[in-house]
Amino acid sequence: MKIFLDSANLTEIREAVSWGAIDGVTTNPSLVAKEQRDFFPLLREICETVNGPVSMETTCRDADGMVDEGRVFSKIHPHIVAKCPLTKEGLKATRQLAKEQIRVNVTLCFSATQALLAAKAGAYFVSPFVGRLDDISSEGMALIQDIKTIYANYRFSTQILVASVRHPLHVVDAARIGADIATMPFAVLEALVKHPLTDIGLERFLKDWEKLPAEAKAWKSPGTAAKSAVQGDILSGQGKRS
Ligand code: G3P
Repeated sequence: MKIFLDSANLTEIREAVSWGAIDGVTTNPSLVAKEQRDFFPLLREICETVNGPVSMETTCRDADGMVDEGRVFSKIHPHIVAKCPLTKEGLKATRQLAKEQIRVNVTLCFSATQALLAAKAGAYFVSPFVGRLDDISSEGMALIQDIKTIYANYRFSTQILVASVRHPLHVVDAARIGADIATMPFAVLEALVKHPLTDIGLERFLKDWEKLPAEAKAWKSPGTAAKSAVQGDILSGQGKRS
């Protein structure tokens, strides 16, 4: 499963890229507004930072407006995917943009029938919002399972991009079901890394290492003759194996 970062914040995006952790970025008007930056330069910088699709949402209610915006976005960078909402106008715009080979992420999907229509309109991604369904006591992950089944039944190529991810269990469930992508805020991505046993284990290993006599680990001390000698041996292929 691919992992996308749901953020328009370049500090977060750069950090996640440095971990080798993300395959793309999703943004929305709320996330972009938080950054308070000139829109196009921000979008271009995000595209140059991440080596994968970057979704940006159109902000019109009518199909013609969405198509115009989608065309403009697509010229900014090859990574751009235009986002259109799952409305009748959004479907019209998706159909038109797909005809023009502009990739569309159909967003704000809350039902299996909506996802079916997005695929028929030619969506590249469909974004079902699991967290917002959970918020209203409707099981978000059940929708992901339904879409997965329906798309498999009819061999739709639209990729399922699980959105509104709120915690690591959403990510695990999305991967179990076989969703193509999960997009998540930086805090959730960080939570995927953390495990208390990793921290405890690392502390113990480093403490034990300190018990080794200084001369036995002299090769680690910067600028010492021992360090240069060991590095010299390793580089010349003479390092001893134990
Ligand atoms: O990508 C859509 C996502 O940003 C929505 O998340 O947490 O606002 O429901 P949330």
